[in-house]
Amino acid sequence: MRTFSLMKAIGLVLLGLVCSINAHDPSHYRSPSNDVHCPADAYVSFVHDSFTFNAPVQKFTNITKSFFDIAWYGGIPASITTGTDNVPGATRFGPLDNGSSFNETLTMYTLDENGLSFTYHGLGFAYALPGYKTADLGAYAETMRFESICAGRGTYIDLITYACSNDSITAYNLWHLEHVLIFPALAAEVGATVMAGDCPEECHNHKT
Ligand SMILES: *[C@@H]1O[C@H](CO)[C@@H](O)[C@H](O)[C@H]1NC(C)=O
Ligand SMILES: *[C@@H]1O[C@H](CO)[C@@H](O)[C@H](O)[C@H]1NC(C)=O
Ligand SMILES: *[C@@H]1O[C@H](CO)[C@@H](O)[C@H](O)[C@H]1NC(C)=O
Ligand SMILES: *[C@@H]1O[C@H](CO)[C@@H](O)[C@H](O)[C@H]1NC(C)=O
Repeated sequence: MRTFSLMKAIGLVLLGLVCSINAHDPSHYRSPSNDVHCPADAYVSFVHDSFTFNAPVQKFTNITKSFFDIAWYGGIPASITTGTDNVPGATRFGPLDNGSSFNETLTMYTLDENGLSFTYHGLGFAYALPGYKTADLGAYAETMRFESICAGRGTYIDLITYACSNDSITAYNLWHLEHVLIFPALAAEVGATVMAGDCPEECHNHKT
């Protein structure tokens, strides 16, 4: 009986240990689920864009870290939010031009000194942009990463977007255009320049 209780106690201690490891170990990064389920008559577009800039990641995450505060991403603030900001399950909703609206749910979020990473899933909407065909954008999932590089002096930004639509080329173009307009503008806002490939060099005081 005593052995049993002891084993039970050890078991509980071990369980506690496992739980605390799971809760605090930063290597327990959860892979984002980007699966979108498209109707039979829709196509899946897969859009990948990445950027590197000469500025610390905090300059970017300072602006982008709130799931509810989405005004930086296309200039359209959320008008309705539910849940707790940055906690998976939170939702944001807002009107787009021409009667459409976005309705997105956060599914993954991590923020630490090395950067920010989050995934959200959206419900579809119809979208038209001058010069582009109107597309019925179906359900989509987007993962965004802001990663510290170059010993804290640079930022790597990476987006992976999966979207259902009735026109995969137009859907690709619309998402890609959104990315290439917004991220360089964001960099300009924080005074960052495009990094061509090499890390910025540290300033050294050379003695002659
Ligand atoms: C974060 O943003 C606020 C206001 O937008 C600004 O005052 C502050 O200096 C920024 N902090 C960093 C680390 O960029
Ligand atoms: C967003 O979509 C969900 C799921 O369809 C729905 O329950 C919710 O009412 C929508 N939010 C708004 C503000 O329309
Ligand atoms: C909104 O509708 C107008 C008129 O049809 C069109 O010119 C414009 O491109 C549309 N804008 C968007 C963002 O859908
Ligand atoms: C996709 O849907 C939009 C909006 O309903 C429509 O205007 C467009 O013609 C459709 N495109 C294709 C290729 O079916």
